[in-house]
Amino acid sequence: MTLGEYEVKPGPNTILYVKNLKTWFPVRRSLTEILMRKPRRWVRAVDGVSFAVNEGDVFGLAGESGCGKTTTGRTILRLVDPTSGIIAYKPRERLIKEWTSMNYKPRVVDDYGCIDIASIPQKYLKPLRKEMQMIFQDPYGSLNPRYTVYSLLEEPLVIHGIGESRDERYDIVAKTLEAVKLTPPEEFMYRYPHMLSGGQRQRVGIARALILNPRFIVADEPVSMLDVSIRAEILELMMELKRKFNLTYIFISHDLAVSRYITNKIAIMYLGKIVELGETRRVIENPLHPYTKALIEAIPEPEPENRLKIREIPIKGEVPSAINIPSGCRFHPRCVVLDAHPELKEYCTRKEPPMVEVEREHYVACWLYARK
Ligand SMILES: Nc1ncnc2c1ncn2[C@@H]1O[C@H](COP(=O)(O)OP(=O)(O)OP(=O)(O)O)[C@@H](O)[C@H]1O
Ligand code: SF4
Ligand SMILES: [Mg+2]
Repeated sequence: MTLGEYEVKPGPNTILYVKNLKTWFPVRRSLTEILMRKPRRWVRAVDGVSFAVNEGDVFGLAGESGCGKTTTGRTILRLVDPTSGIIAYKPRERLIKEWTSMNYKPRVVDDYGCIDIASIPQKYLKPLRKEMQMIFQDPYGSLNPRYTVYSLLEEPLVIHGIGESRDERYDIVAKTLEAVKLTPPEEFMYRYPHMLSGGQRQRVGIARALILNPRFIVADEPVSMLDVSIRAEILELMMELKRKFNLTYIFISHDLAVSRYITNKIAIMYLGKIVELGETRRVIENPLHPYTKALIEAIPEPEPENRLKIREIPIKGEVPSAINIPSGCRFHPRCVVLDAHPELKEYCTRKEPPMVEVEREHYVACWLYARK
């Protein structure tokens, strides 16, 4: 028995939601293809994603490389333009005031004051950056090597006109460095990125996201480039900052062991779509989708002598290209469950499964559950 189909319903605590979000990238055509009038093809990086994030959530986006996690995060922040769908966000009062002073009135999309992010013209996006920020995977690549830590942190303040004087900006930079535990701040301010360890660099990356006092942060694989020994420290820091500054995170990771540790809700993505969604504890303890089950099977387990053992993933073949997405359930060419349930074949290969609620707030898109 299912409890009904998934529907994004914003409430008083919702800070962000997306509905049927799509981000497609055009594939370049060769001259021959253009001359032969071959239709344009698309990389369907995000292909109809819906979910809601409440204030204070650490909402996980998980799934294999190429499933569309980063593109989802970047689209939400309007670093990439969506192809279609709704991105709704509840801004602070002061953001609305800033837009009003610019003679811009954002489109309100529900009774809770969420606004339509997708329709904001480029020239009005700047104030939004103060509220919605991103932490990048590669702290080295995302920090300009020619800037000192001080300049890297002062730059966003200057761009957004925060801090009346250099002294005031200095204080903000020093406080932010303290918040990310780079203390004493004077010791770090005048170093260049190459003079920092990987963990320290990521702390600067976090400080750069934090310095504009945001309320919503997309953290894209923030610890995957770091040494295993310092991952826990950075995750602890992110949780501490969340409590201190009332942050909400979307936490992107291909590593379910990390997601399990930090997120309270999780969406499992496969080829641009969410296949399972729910409280992290429920999804990890009771995975329903054959793909989620396979991912959880693949989490390394400690062996007696403390070596990590990678277990085999019960999936067939490789991830298909996001240009040629399989018909029906997009996971069907790799699904071992389908082999055991030939009666499902007609459904699985032809019709996309709806996302249904199987237990409270635990949703899955698989015909195994949707047909009952
Ligand atoms: N700017 C772009 N132009 C064309 N295709 C893109 C672009 N950005 C991403 N893609 C494609 O979109 C799909 C999703 O990519 P994305 O980076 O969102 O995946 P991901 O889940 O973050 O993967 P990873 O775990 O490797 O970071 C991939 O097929 C990728 O090649
Ligand atoms: S819908 Fe069918 S093919 Fe897709 S995961 Fe479920 S059983 Fe496998
Ligand atoms: Mg990515």
